[in-house]
Amino acid sequence: MSKIYNSIIETIGNTPIIKLNSIPEKSIHEFYVKLEYFNPGGSVKDRIAVALIEGAEKRGDLKPGGTIVEATSGNTGLGLAFVAASKGYKCIFVMPDKISEEKRAILAAFGAKVLITPTAVAPTDPRYYVNVAKNIADNTKNCFYANQYHNIDNRERHYKTTGPEIWQQMDGKLDIFVAGAGTGGTISGVGRFLKEKNPNIKIVCADPVGSILYDLFYHKKIVDPPAGYKVEGVGEDFLPENVELQYMDDFVKVTDKESFLMTRELIQKESLCVGPSSAMSLVGAIKYSEKIKEKKKFLVVLPDSGKAYLSKVYSNKWMIDNGFLTEKEVGQVFNKVDDYQNYYKEIGI
Ligand SMILES: Cc1ncc(COP(=O)(O)O)c(C=O)c1O
Repeated sequence: MSKIYNSIIETIGNTPIIKLNSIPEKSIHEFYVKLEYFNPGGSVKDRIAVALIEGAEKRGDLKPGGTIVEATSGNTGLGLAFVAASKGYKCIFVMPDKISEEKRAILAAFGAKVLITPTAVAPTDPRYYVNVAKNIADNTKNCFYANQYHNIDNRERHYKTTGPEIWQQMDGKLDIFVAGAGTGGTISGVGRFLKEKNPNIKIVCADPVGSILYDLFYHKKIVDPPAGYKVEGVGEDFLPENVELQYMDDFVKVTDKESFLMTRELIQKESLCVGPSSAMSLVGAIKYSEKIKEKKKFLVVLPDSGKAYLSKVYSNKWMIDNGFLTEKEVGQVFNKVDDYQNYYKEIGI
């Protein structure tokens, strides 16, 4: 049956779920993953971009010709730029300097203004990317500050669409839902929906080592001060409004190294070219599954595509420079013009 969409925006959502066949190598459990990179902008954030913009239009916060300002690690910016372009809005994005070049370039391609701030500053510092975005929004006319962290249109969209989609696709048969939390919109919105359908479904948050969310869940206060980590888009050094800890049952800590190695394993063994936060959630799911003795069905959200990270996790040099792989592990890398001759030698031509 053919279906013609009225605009690219209508193609957001209804992303596929697939079963993993090779990862983990041995387990009594079943692992399913929801592929959010099938969204037209390449990530789960397309979903909330529409929600934030439509919510602002309804409330009269965004008027024709207006400007959308956001603090973003990239994907929300792309989703917003995507929706804004088709609706005639301008965009200004503020992002920390750890964000990959590819993510900055694509935003600029949509015509957005991209402003970079230092990553290693405290949330109280005026240079912190969220503070810079707020400052710009306060000083720009006809401007809407999308505020993905605290604007609850974010988690509501996941409650109304992502949650029901998962329930329907899994036919109501899942035991454990695992996701990371950046703004917290995905895990909180989906978590609330699934708990309402079946309170026995466990909601597990995978959290990077260095994020404070794990401590806030377990200790109701920060025990280990926030520390830097390299996985993008997940974990926090503050508590966003969209994080609803009451819908979560457990937290699992995951290191950068575990996340980056799993990112590479996913493309090589499952043909899934996803970003490191996807791999982080899967590592979290596998660690959690190791404590469970009866067979369970896990569903893990994979938030974005790996194409935005070619210069990072998919670069051997970057992996070696950051201590995630050794030269010996990477093996011979051919990348010069006459490399085919080296390869000829290797195979005896
Ligand atoms: C790459 C990536 N993964 C995961 C997430 C987390 O999703 P959420 O903001 O819904 O918690 C984000 C959010 O910024 C992200 O950019």
